[in-house]
Amino acid sequence: MTRFKNAESNHPGICPNGAEFEVPEGANLAKALVANGVNIDHACEFSCSCTTCHCYIDKGFDSLEPAEDDEEDLLDQAWGLKSNSRLTCQTKVGKEDITVEIPKYSRNHARENE
Ligand code: FES
Repeated sequence: MTRFKNAESNHPGICPNGAEFEVPEGANLAKALVANGVNIDHACEFSCSCTTCHCYIDKGFDSLEPAEDDEEDLLDQAWGLKSNSRLTCQTKVGKEDITVEIPKYSRNHARENE
């Protein structure tokens, strides 16, 4: 089991108070977020073609499997790309605790004014 904790400076509209929960090793991070009440955008339904599920892994980044080429290519289009950016739909939770921050903006134009 892996403990998951949202960063304190989280997206105000998606998870204003943060969240902390455990998910099994190997779980899909985006699906784990949604299943635990953190309704991160996932416009392409977790198929690695939209970037709306972009997040920062503030703690535990190196414990994750590296991003594959498809994810790296798509990440280049994400808003606010950082060295610890991942697409949550392409990220499997590892053995270590991670802390996730959801960027303030995404490329989901339908949510831009929320
Ligand atoms: S949900 Fe679209 S890239 Fe992750």
